[in-house]
Amino acid sequence: MRHRRKLAAGNWKMNGTADDLGEVTALAEAHPDPGCQIVICPPATLLSRMAEAVEGGPVEVGGQDCHPAASGAHTGDVSAAMLADAGAAWVILGHSERRADHGETNDTVRDKCRAAWDAGLIAIVCVGETLEQREAQNTLDIISGQLAGSVPDGATGHNLVVAYEPVWAIGTGKIPTMDQIGEVHDAIRARLERRFGEGVGRSVRLLYGGSVKPGNAAEIFAVSNVDGALVGGASLKAADFGGIVAALGGD
Ligand code: 13P
Repeated sequence: MRHRRKLAAGNWKMNGTADDLGEVTALAEAHPDPGCQIVICPPATLLSRMAEAVEGGPVEVGGQDCHPAASGAHTGDVSAAMLADAGAAWVILGHSERRADHGETNDTVRDKCRAAWDAGLIAIVCVGETLEQREAQNTLDIISGQLAGSVPDGATGHNLVVAYEPVWAIGTGKIPTMDQIGEVHDAIRARLERRFGEGVGRSVRLLYGGSVKPGNAAEIFAVSNVDGALVGGASLKAADFGGIVAALGGD
């Protein structure tokens, strides 16, 4: 099996101003040689300053969304090329908060993913079921549909990461059982292998997201096909995110 480098990705959501850049430099100083890749996705307003602050160190930066078009009359939006210009190498797409707050469909996410790839960004495409969908035992169908619809043709282990984020686990302190996480991650891996071939399917990294903390990270990272985490609240402070980085990288 092709080696998949572990990945700790932080999603700052709508949090962070210049005062918070010190958290990222502290993280970089505390983990100069982490055993995993580290990405922080701050709000767009902080991207270029964060990219400058972490340059040459172990932390990479990413955006939280991009517009599907390369440029044009789209007031308030940011294109993938603009994220890249600001120093991003990554972009989160199809987060459940975007799907819920901005009505993003699988088609929208797929178009954004193409735009991200055109700009040379690595896309972290998010999928996840609501509590209702889980209780109705529709989880795997929902995830399969989101995956099929949100990921364009042309995925590789170099341009795509998939994040499984159960909507009901985000910011709630609730997490699925390890068996439930494993079941979904195994299913995502199987579907990627079927669609893109074994080589590509096995090389795409799969992250778990939703209430990951230093205290539960090691247990989650031991689950089959979990290659890292997409972390919200616990990515805002160097000490918390550092605990997750350490659990993942063994440093
Ligand atoms: P929390 O880690 O705050 O639950 O958020 C998860 C998330 O939505 C990351 O994208």
